[in-house]
Amino acid sequence: MSTATATRPRVFSGMRPTGQLHIGHFLGALGNWVRLQDDYECIYSVVDLHALTTGYEDVKGIHDAGLEMVADWVACGVDPERSIIFRQSDVPQHAELAVLLGMITPLSWLERVPTYKGQIDELGDHLQTYGFLGYPLLQTADIILYKATRVPVGQDQLPHLELSREVVRRFNHLYGPVFPEPEAIISEAPLLIGPDGRKMSKSYGNAITLASTDDEIDKLVMGMVTDPQRIKKDDPGNPEVCNVFAWQKLLGASEAEIEEIFVGCTTATLGCVADKRDLAERVKALIRPIRERREQLMQDPARLEAILEDGAERARAIAGPVMAEATAAMGL
Ligand code: TRP
Repeated sequence: MSTATATRPRVFSGMRPTGQLHIGHFLGALGNWVRLQDDYECIYSVVDLHALTTGYEDVKGIHDAGLEMVADWVACGVDPERSIIFRQSDVPQHAELAVLLGMITPLSWLERVPTYKGQIDELGDHLQTYGFLGYPLLQTADIILYKATRVPVGQDQLPHLELSREVVRRFNHLYGPVFPEPEAIISEAPLLIGPDGRKMSKSYGNAITLASTDDEIDKLVMGMVTDPQRIKKDDPGNPEVCNVFAWQKLLGASEAEIEEIFVGCTTATLGCVADKRDLAERVKALIRPIRERREQLMQDPARLEAILEDGAERARAIAGPVMAEATAAMGL
């Protein structure tokens, strides 16, 4: 690696292998991950230990879901040569550092993280575990094990990042300045409302995934809800309340195209069906190359495993010395 690349600030982020990624992940988090590769040294992790914090009862899908997620990442443009892509459980220092951080973290800090009580209320008492309480501490270990300073995450992760910073300050105060304080890079999660008007999610059956076929995309897009006041084709519509229009903007329609659609809709010269056909073409054009690349990758699981093995080796090469610094600082 050249010195130029070695001195770029380091980015760390992770995703839990809990299911198929969809177009919202691409337009939000993943697109950002891909762009960050130009300016940062990026480390992206399949955080399978984190998947266990909520999904410990049914574990048989975790391994394969991780492999599939890597196919999605690479298909979207995460580059396993430029960036480090690895599985969290392949680098034992994550668990090790989390134990050490647990020694200095007051319970009250973890109990007051807003997602903690919220998720238990939402998902149930099976989350009353030590592991789930420690989720943000494991996340802290993920980041600081590489002394990463920038962490691309969605808005919802800010309380976790805040906790990470507090834990780092406490560590450095007690044992000397070992870790830098990580900072969030907020991924502007675009507000993609599902084709049926609900939040897009695999479990609602309304998600356009990175594996969706052209037919599936046509079906979902042609079923989209438009301006509910526009009943007949000759009724002028209001694009500002139309989900199809919102998607067209997010999918990179040019200003001239947006203007044309706006005028067509408000003057009732462009019908909803034709407009949805336009959107379907845009979605298919975006997903098709990703789907084809991910299909190719999925046919070669050995290659995906090799990417993860190589990534783990590179990750361990960074994590080992940092872990040694941490244990020495803590008097071990
Ligand atoms: N908690 C993150 C999420 O749900 C996933 C995650 C785990 C993560 N470890 C991380 C994100 C470290 C950034 C950095 O999105």
